[in-house]
Amino acid sequence: MEKYKKYYDLIKAQSHIFDKTQNCKIGQTWEYHLCPVIRNAIMLAIDYGANKDVVEVAAIFHDYADLIDMNNRNEHHILGANLAREILIKDGFDKDFIDKVCLCIKNHRASVQLEKNSIEEICVADADALSHLDNVVELICWRAYLGEDIKTANQFVKNKIIKSYNKMSKLSQNKFADKYNAILKVLY
Ligand SMILES: [Fe+2]
Ligand SMILES: [Fe+2]
Repeated sequence: MEKYKKYYDLIKAQSHIFDKTQNCKIGQTWEYHLCPVIRNAIMLAIDYGANKDVVEVAAIFHDYADLIDMNNRNEHHILGANLAREILIKDGFDKDFIDKVCLCIKNHRASVQLEKNSIEEICVADADALSHLDNVVELICWRAYLGEDIKTANQFVKNKIIKSYNKMSKLSQNKFADKYNAILKVLY
């Protein structure tokens, strides 16, 4: 954390700016998305023997382009990788490290397959998906805030949880099957 404090501060500040543009009182992006993703990514990096620094920095920056402008949504994985690259080059990181970080950011949305992706990419993509399993209450509150009725909100959250779980690597699906099944038992 201390090592990359500058980046934590940058993304935290940008998350707060983003929340204001969304005019959504409960949209606490830093606390309920970025922090869980970073925390889970580091945990998975340790568990799976990945490069912890690559995973941590990639997780910090993974949605940066989205936080700057929601219009970047469709391309935010590519734009975010480019933005992170510029910052990391300026800060003197070596090319190999930067390339690995950027690959994780670029591929955090794609469904992951063990044989095709580096273990670092898997950690970041799985952590992104896992954050939704960790924040079911926040997801429900968000939909309610948008004015959805209970049935619609339930369906949205259920779909989001299923999609997130299906996106995860087999390794992480096995690891978090209990949590996933418990959530699906509660939602109807
Ligand atoms: Fe993203
Ligand atoms: Fe994300």
